[in-house]
Amino acid sequence: MREPPIVIIGAGTVGLAVGWRLAEAGERVVLFEKERAGRGASWQAAGMLAPDAEIGFEELELYALSRESLRRWPAFADELEDASGQQVDLRTEGTFVVADDPDSANALRRLFEFQKEQGLGVDWLTPEAALEREPFLAPRLAAAVFAPSDHQVDNRRLVQALRTAFERAGGELHEDTPVPSVHPGNEGGNEPPAVTTAGDDGNAERVEARAVVVAAGVGTRDIDGLEEAPAVRPVKGQMIELKAKRPFALEHVVRGPDAYLAPKSDGRLLVGATSEERGFDTRVTAGGLFELLEGARQVVPGVDELEVTGAWAGLRPAARDNAPLLGESGRPGIVMATGHYRHGVLLTPVTADEIAHLVLDGETSHWIEAFSPRRFLA
Ligand code: GLY
Repeated sequence: MREPPIVIIGAGTVGLAVGWRLAEAGERVVLFEKERAGRGASWQAAGMLAPDAEIGFEELELYALSRESLRRWPAFADELEDASGQQVDLRTEGTFVVADDPDSANALRRLFEFQKEQGLGVDWLTPEAALEREPFLAPRLAAAVFAPSDHQVDNRRLVQALRTAFERAGGELHEDTPVPSVHPGNEGGNEPPAVTTAGDDGNAERVEARAVVVAAGVGTRDIDGLEEAPAVRPVKGQMIELKAKRPFALEHVVRGPDAYLAPKSDGRLLVGATSEERGFDTRVTAGGLFELLEGARQVVPGVDELEVTGAWAGLRPAARDNAPLLGESGRPGIVMATGHYRHGVLLTPVTADEIAHLVLDGETSHWIEAFSPRRFLA
């Protein structure tokens, strides 16, 4: 009889990347996705690889994990491009973090000092020097920092490449297949874990697994059997897509106090993102769009002339402390790889490697130890 497969729930960047790593290691992997692969938070994101600008001062363990994932990104992208035959548009021009008034300049000074303490090669620039390097910045900024190692990737190309690489490595993907419940194995290991799936014909099917990896993002809370796992809540992010057209040619990611701008090589300019605690609300609102456009034009005034080509809202999956849930769930055979909040794309390489290592070798590496889903049980 064939050994049961490793089952993954959720085909976002994380689920696909974990699946790819396991499939390329020769494992039989079955991935269930409740809708279409890669069309949830991974699709709605901006693809920034930005530990320096996005991690809070008090989150040093998350910062270390993020820096490590960023370090792995170039090799991960090369390997993925080879495996899939597709480009993921990893851009390494770096990021400008800018302030447009004295208050935001003070906040930026504190960020800069933190970055320096962490040993980063960031530069404090006069507005003139910043403008010289990135001519599309506003001429009258209050302050600017250049973070050369905060990069970006095209998140939509990324999920497409991951899907191809996963399938080419022999992974089995089932879309439109929700998993309403998981069933842990028993402690002795003689009863394997399992999941129950609901196909689009409505028929439930029980699938036994060698291990179950939950990478379901905000869908985690719909899965019965995970009640003891920490809750994952949705944090709404609205985003606008503009079409960059010459003479407008922003080269760098720019982060202002109220909006960031991420130029993609295909001409899309993403302006994001709101951060709203509103449950499962994905409406695009006038207030959200206003905040983003106003925030963007404060720091890059040339956006005024650009055509709006899209707007959407995504739901970032966040645990109570906004740090990811990586590792054994505490229920036999069930591993969590979710709750990546603002950092899903950035943390994909380290999550894929370390969760695959845990599933294959039973070892929790020091990289993910601090992010155990059991950390809330005190
Ligand atoms: N990482 C970008 C965002 O969460 O908006």
